[in-house]
Amino acid sequence: MPLTDEELAALPLSPAGRLAAEAMLADQRLLRAHDLAPSLNLIHDCQPDPAAGPVPTDVTSFHVDSAPVEVDTWLCTYLGACSEGLANEDARRKVEVPEIRAQLLMEYGGADDEGFAEFLHEHSYDSHYAPRPGAQPYAFGRFALWRIATRWPGSPVPPCVHRAPVNRPGNLACC
Ligand SMILES: [Fe+2]
Repeated sequence: MPLTDEELAALPLSPAGRLAAEAMLADQRLLRAHDLAPSLNLIHDCQPDPAAGPVPTDVTSFHVDSAPVEVDTWLCTYLGACSEGLANEDARRKVEVPEIRAQLLMEYGGADDEGFAEFLHEHSYDSHYAPRPGAQPYAFGRFALWRIATRWPGSPVPPCVHRAPVNRPGNLACC
């Protein structure tokens, strides 16, 4: 549900929530001053799906954002647990893990060919990552507005692997 500046400013919030909302409004002003068009959406329930298959595709799973054109993701946490990142060398695409790929092939019901690659892409399975053994995710922290790289054709840098915190009452994050 879209949330306007006025609605955000009028929300009944705790002092910490008010601080977060004020920072969110200020960040939106900053983004608009850079000719960007931020929009806020109110999402109440951003939980992992317990019935998801071998590659859950919700935002609490490590993933990269992708687009057919050049674009960045702006990410910030304002209250509660913050988003996390994973260095590219610490991340492995889940579709490249043999056991997971085998399960996805069964779901696809065909050969490991171009059609399968398309299937993986259509379902965003190819955008999700598993931490390699011993990997240490890093925290983005709160109130820092991050500009992170996405996957788009021709991007000169690898995309940033990241995940949102599991939504709990009192959290206020956006990306
Ligand atoms: Fe994302």
